[in-house]
Amino acid sequence: MSFAVSADAYDRFMGRYSVQLAPQLADHAGVRAGQRVIDVGCGPGALTAVLADRLGSANVCAIDPSESFVAAVRVRLPGVDARLASAERLPWADRTFDAAMAQLVVHFTSDPVAGLSEMARVVRPGGIVAACVWDHAGEYGPLSIFWQAARELDAEVKDESLLAGAREGHLAELFVEAGLRSVEDSALVATVNHPSFAEWWVPFTLGVGPAGAYAAGLDPERRAALQERCRQLLPAAPFELSARAWTARGRT
Ligand SMILES: C[S@@+](CC[C@H](N)C(=O)[O-])C[C@H]1O[C@@H](n2cnc3c(N)ncnc32)[C@H](O)[C@@H]1O
Repeated sequence: MSFAVSADAYDRFMGRYSVQLAPQLADHAGVRAGQRVIDVGCGPGALTAVLADRLGSANVCAIDPSESFVAAVRVRLPGVDARLASAERLPWADRTFDAAMAQLVVHFTSDPVAGLSEMARVVRPGGIVAACVWDHAGEYGPLSIFWQAARELDAEVKDESLLAGAREGHLAELFVEAGLRSVEDSALVATVNHPSFAEWWVPFTLGVGPAGAYAAGLDPERRAALQERCRQLLPAAPFELSARAWTARGRT
């Protein structure tokens, strides 16, 4: 699994974008003091930390199938009930939470509708399910330049554009299929400053997620060609990249 990596590698690669989404997604889900919330696919805890800050650790639960990420959350956020599990099978009773959230996760689940239905199951009637997925089908994902370069050099490459929720409106369709009500979709934006090309590129070599796995699997010559094409496509450093995430929320 391409998320069997260290929390530090994740932080350097995707965490630098996902920490910016977390407070926005919490606002979008209407998270407020007094609630009990689950973070599904928590990774090393970008969203979990925001929830713990707003609600108190004792009111936050989190799951992820990656052992290293669950271990990191337990160290970083003691008091949060962090467990090794998958969205498709949450180890909590029906109606346990006020909200269930999944930040950048739905596209990695083996059955997105089953995962969203399971999130709905553990939320009380009238509670919220909220999720977001990067705009991998468009030009404004955080990995768009990388996958553009990869496609130019290898027409057979399997990028992330066809994954669930990665195109506009699809996440909301999945929410409706999962039986959620009053479904609304919108977009969130993360903007990250990159001081140098190396600071942008090196995290792609750490093997995180499908892009990291792809880069790590190339022989040195092809990886160098990909690196060079990315350098040509990016603005001169320092540069700023903005990334869009499609977002949906619905009521149980
Ligand atoms: C891009 S990371 C997002 C992590 C974190 N939510 C964040 O925003 O930084 C995707 C996460 O989904 C997790 N994941 C993959 N398959 C999953 C599944 N079936 N159920 C729950 N989480 C899953 C991965 O282990 C990984 O931590």
